[in-house]
Amino acid sequence: MKKIKIAPSILSADFSKMGEEVVSLEKCGADVVHCDVMDGVFVNNITFGIKMVEDIRSRTKLPLDCHLMIVNPEKYVERFAKAGADIITVHYEACKDNLKEVLALIKNAGVKCGAVINPDTPVSAIKDVIPMCDMVLLMSVFPGFGGQKFIPEVLDKVREVRQIIDESGKDIDLQIDGGVTDENVVEIKAAGANVIVAGSAVFKASDRAEMIAKLKA
Ligand code: DX5
Ligand code: ZN
Repeated sequence: MKKIKIAPSILSADFSKMGEEVVSLEKCGADVVHCDVMDGVFVNNITFGIKMVEDIRSRTKLPLDCHLMIVNPEKYVERFAKAGADIITVHYEACKDNLKEVLALIKNAGVKCGAVINPDTPVSAIKDVIPMCDMVLLMSVFPGFGGQKFIPEVLDKVREVRQIIDESGKDIDLQIDGGVTDENVVEIKAAGANVIVAGSAVFKASDRAEMIAKLKA
């Protein structure tokens, strides 16, 4: 079984003190910092971009996982890599038939790559690119906002992708993102996800370290 990694999403952090928030995540036992980049076009929300990644890079040694919810992600891959991203994930829905090229571009930029699909996109849409990925991200909410409810139908896709990864024999992470809490995380991990994004569950918790430990247990 692959190592469980907890990736709090800084979408739910206080942006006015993002540096301290990232330092706090590291202190509280997070394994990865999940950076939700939104352009207001691919999703109906706008968050932050390359400069935010650059600025938090110097505040933590944790891997920065950049989830690009933007159109034309290929235009920005190099700059996110230069800014300090350790892994960049791009949506099938934003890349469609040039997903393979965009993933190759990310790898050429010297960082890990991942493909993302929304809750209503079938696994078949990305099946052919999974072997070249370092991580597959399955959205368990429709992207754009934190604090939404987990969509349980996605569990079948988690099981399906876990099987594809295991059969590939490759060391590929399976990330779940959206609506994860300490109530549903056991079932999610049992289905095969090993990288757990949690935004509101962590940032709304009275004790972040305790919540991260619960999600990881
Ligand atoms: C949604 C983002 C998620 C979100 C998770 O578009 O991709 O990472 O921030 O937040 P919670 O855990 O609150 O659903
Ligand atoms: Zn995300």
